[in-house]
Amino acid sequence: MLHEKLKPFPKSFLWGAASAAYQVEGAWNADGKGVSNWDEFVRIPGKTFKGTTGDVAVDHYHRYKEDVKLMAEMGLKTYRFSVAWTRIFPNGKGEVNQQGIDFYNNLINELIKHHIEPILTIYHWDLPQTLQDEYGGWESRQIVKDFTNYCITLYKAFGDRVKYWVSLNEQNVFTRLGYQSAMHPPGIKDDKLFYQVNHHASLANASAIKEFRKYVPNGKIGPSFAYSPAYPATSKPEDVLAAENAEELTSHWWMDVFAWGTYPIATWNYLERKGIAPQVEEGDFDLLKEGKPDFMGVNYYQTTTYEKNPIDGVTSEGRFNTTGEKGTTEDTGIPGLYKTVTNENLSTTNWDWNIDPKGLRIGLRRITNRYKLPILISENGLGEYDILEDDGSINDDYRIRYIQSHIKAIQEALTDGVEVIGYCVWSFTDLLSWLNGYQKRYGFVYVNQHEEGEHDLRRIKKKSFYWYKDVIESNGEGLEKE
Ligand code: BG6
Repeated sequence: MLHEKLKPFPKSFLWGAASAAYQVEGAWNADGKGVSNWDEFVRIPGKTFKGTTGDVAVDHYHRYKEDVKLMAEMGLKTYRFSVAWTRIFPNGKGEVNQQGIDFYNNLINELIKHHIEPILTIYHWDLPQTLQDEYGGWESRQIVKDFTNYCITLYKAFGDRVKYWVSLNEQNVFTRLGYQSAMHPPGIKDDKLFYQVNHHASLANASAIKEFRKYVPNGKIGPSFAYSPAYPATSKPEDVLAAENAEELTSHWWMDVFAWGTYPIATWNYLERKGIAPQVEEGDFDLLKEGKPDFMGVNYYQTTTYEKNPIDGVTSEGRFNTTGEKGTTEDTGIPGLYKTVTNENLSTTNWDWNIDPKGLRIGLRRITNRYKLPILISENGLGEYDILEDDGSINDDYRIRYIQSHIKAIQEALTDGVEVIGYCVWSFTDLLSWLNGYQKRYGFVYVNQHEEGEHDLRRIKKKSFYWYKDVIESNGEGLEKE
């Protein structure tokens, strides 16, 4: 659909940026904070790029005022951040650590003082290690009770000022990387357990949303889903079917549960035949149906292209680029279902992520047509090397181009009729990129933090900072300016 004229962004559009506690805060054991699964995992040799940790990260915990001031200078309408469960409950449950509550109260108040709408993510992957040790964390149904209790504590503490909430960040990613590829904690490869863990996470998500209605009746809540729309490699029916398989297994498997409380049929039957379908107990589907979100949070970075994969074909074992050496990612697949292939029509980043703004529009339309929910784009951005020039500037034109083209795609989707309530660029400041260290940068604000060498953590505005400021000021009208 080619539009002659695009609809303007709504006046209330939430122009934003996002972060996550483990990736920015640092202060990993300060003020009563407990140990998280990530605090432990990064200490295992070989797990992260050059052994980087979030012990200090970009020290947002101590510098949040400076960071919020920069957000205000930029004119940011919203800031999405996550709460570290271990700051609130050092052991995951039991007694509340008041210093943890105080930190987020201060951050929220500082944002509001500067007219920035807080979007609070309840869980962005940092699980209290004690819960992992006690009952395997997400492996046990006990997590539902402890997670719900944690959520209620946050609702009571912050629900008077925080209207927008994200329940679980990328449930599809933390379960898959934790239990299928073993790249994230707890570093397990077990397909059956993966589907079970994911079922528990869905129950926890629904339970959190159900309780939310009681404590924050005027608020809005939804999960953030990492959506990578599936494309077929060719028009051969077998490739189209492979892409359908992938869309169902990698996306509908989650979003159907969020929106409808049901699992998609072909995938369910496939998992049953393989003996790896999750064990569902009486009442589970009732709870899933009671936890309907107000919006679908979408973290969009790229599309994935698929072709037919024979029964004895490629498996999920394949190298994943965490070094920034372009071209080192290997194709993966599920025998009999699909296999990923390079999409020759798209350019890629140095970490081999496809750059595909149209894919965002396609994804937004698919979600709208299938689920009829408003959408919050809770993440989108470009991870690249940035160069700090001798004159102190960072000329990240590539990031401007990336964000510009994605905003244009959003505007086209708005014109199509998709309801998008906000756009949070990943990320506001540079931060720790889980497995990729500090060299893969996403921020509008450069932070002088490195894997090695000198790092005084000073903040420097990149060229994209000024560009996004203009975009916000003009409510998206200033898009073409570079
Ligand atoms: C999302 C996560 O998966 O993508 C973020 O929610 C993450 O936490 C972002 O940082 C980019 O991924 P990466 O691996 O490049 O840091």
